[in-house]
Amino acid sequence: MASEAAAAGAARAPRREDQGEDPALNDVGVNSVPSFKAEDTVLQLSDAKKPKPELEGLQFGTVFTDHMLVIEWSSEGGWEKPRIQPFGNLSIHPACSAMHYAVQLFEGMKAYRGADGRVRLFRPMLNMTRMLKSANRACLPGFDRGELLECIRKLVEVDQEWVPQSESASLYIRPTFIGTEPSLGVKKPSRAMLFVILCPVGSYFSTGTKPVSLWADSKYIRAWRGGTGDCKMGGNYGASIYAQYEAVDYGCQQVLWLYGDDHQITEVGTMNLFLYWINEKGEEELATPPLDGIILPGITRQSILDITRQWGEFKVSERYLTMADLRLALEEERVKEMFGSGTACVVSPVGRVLYQGENLQIPCESNCPPLVSRLLKELTDIQYGRTPSDWSLLV
Ligand SMILES: Cc1ncc(COP(=O)(O)O)c(C=O)c1O
Repeated sequence: MASEAAAAGAARAPRREDQGEDPALNDVGVNSVPSFKAEDTVLQLSDAKKPKPELEGLQFGTVFTDHMLVIEWSSEGGWEKPRIQPFGNLSIHPACSAMHYAVQLFEGMKAYRGADGRVRLFRPMLNMTRMLKSANRACLPGFDRGELLECIRKLVEVDQEWVPQSESASLYIRPTFIGTEPSLGVKKPSRAMLFVILCPVGSYFSTGTKPVSLWADSKYIRAWRGGTGDCKMGGNYGASIYAQYEAVDYGCQQVLWLYGDDHQITEVGTMNLFLYWINEKGEEELATPPLDGIILPGITRQSILDITRQWGEFKVSERYLTMADLRLALEEERVKEMFGSGTACVVSPVGRVLYQGENLQIPCESNCPPLVSRLLKELTDIQYGRTPSDWSLLV
């Protein structure tokens, strides 16, 4: 694997987390577990190539590439050899623990093709680390993050024709890990399957960035302390769909997830949340809630924190924010911008929050306010290889 840093002599020093080193993982005993090896991958190529879809108007996650990665595990035999095989249905036992008890997790990342025609992944080791943490929480077996990343790189290489030739589209990568225990006991699965599927995705903002409207209500809770909100487990998402539809009933596009009696602001839909404001001490600040167990540690969130801290132009904080803080700041005209962040959209401005029957208008002087548009450019420049960075991994 060649990193962009090696290829382009990027100035930024490699970070420990980009190398996949995470001291916290030693605590859960998964840093030195037996693992499959990418070099053992068995390649079975598809006989027929499917036609590539028109990206314009393509619905997210509906068209898949020609191949998938499958790696199976059992408590007796350990990890089997990784297989890159034609995309197709899985065969699983009807008692499979993923289906009964949601012993399941996933990741979301993308491959981007730059103007130079080369394909890059963005900070993919952070996804591997998050996936391993989720696996530990789900009682699924550990694996070597570098080996999985190399398997994914090989899969993307095999299906590289599917990475759109466009600097606004990309290939979405969905690593998934399920318990395939073939019995109904509520226990650690004795069998598991890790698989990775790929789908081309068009531009998130086909008509430009548009501020989103949010429904803020404490009626539904996305995550709680001691729960699984900081892991990317399917159950977190399945349980959120009902609230999403209620938000739409209230004329809003997404849910602003609140927590606690003081209505702490946590996340937006499936994005992390940032508030750019003049804080209560009169300081210019970019703030996002801290990773205290109820926040998904987004790769985009981390990247925004890293970039803005490097700028050193304003205070950057991981701190609690409540609806009362937001309402008062709006009254006192201290809010500059509010936005969500995530792999799908990169950054998405918030224009309105419906809270306790009142529409709180968030300043959005243009559809893409200054900080949002600067971050969008900075991040996509790295993702599409316009700015050399050791955050990029060449496929
Ligand atoms: C609940 C939640 N929060 C935040 C994010 C953003 O994370 P990332 O920036 O890694 O895509 C996601 C998307 O994965 C998410 O599902």
